[in-house]
Amino acid sequence: MPLLTDSTLRPLMKLYYRYAGLVTRVAPTPRVQGMKLEILPSVCRPVGNWDELADYVPAGKNVLELGSGSGHLTIFLAQKSEHVTATDINPIAVENTRKNLDERRLTNVTTLVSDAFQAVAGRFDAIAANPPWMTLHFDDPRLAWATSSSFVPTIVREAARLLVDNGVLVFSYPSEHKHELIEVAEHHGLRFVSANPRRRRQSVGSRLLELAYLNIGFDTSIFVFRKPAAAPTAID
Ligand SMILES: C[S@@+](CC[C@H](N)C(=O)[O-])C[C@H]1O[C@@H](n2cnc3c(N)ncnc32)[C@H](O)[C@@H]1O
Repeated sequence: MPLLTDSTLRPLMKLYYRYAGLVTRVAPTPRVQGMKLEILPSVCRPVGNWDELADYVPAGKNVLELGSGSGHLTIFLAQKSEHVTATDINPIAVENTRKNLDERRLTNVTTLVSDAFQAVAGRFDAIAANPPWMTLHFDDPRLAWATSSSFVPTIVREAARLLVDNGVLVFSYPSEHKHELIEVAEHHGLRFVSANPRRRRQSVGSRLLELAYLNIGFDTSIFVFRKPAAAPTAID
């Protein structure tokens, strides 16, 4: 029997969301490239090296980011991409992403409220996401930054449909799920490229923040999958 059943985890995670909201209110505002990053209430605060994902996205491309939160990763993607479509299930997160982009005068980003791919149209050279890691569902979209039971399965199942040939899917997830992720993604038309352990920030400040958010004990990797080019069909 699992140690934490859904009915035990649910009240615990509700408590955690309240607690994390308080921490966000009292913790110092994070800076990104010397500028303050505004974090609105109910929006996920970046902890650690979350922008590292952008290093795995090729430059000059048309990119879709799922779950943009405060727009922290979006800023790094926008700086290296031709265009970014940044989406989140939480309307306050989308507002937050817009705010942080506008302050930096980054104009190559379209923001969109969307549950995974639901409101997304078009095809992309790359899809990037730093999704929640805990499998649990709350109906309130403000309680979706640490928990979701559908987000990652949907990404892995449907990314190939929205990627151009040779397009890449880049996302972070606990390393222990590597084999099942590869199996499901390959089943849905993606090819595994790499899984690299995420670098941790070494400063005392970021270590303390990780501790404050109880973001401890997670060993996460950045997964990269590629949609292979379709095999040419023979013409007689
Ligand atoms: C861990 S946070 C990452 C935020 C941001 N990308 C960053 O790196 O700071 C996960 C984000 O995914 C969003 N999210 C959760 N489930 C989602 C879904 N089904 N569709 C779209 N976004 C979702 C949450 O609202 C949250 O903003």
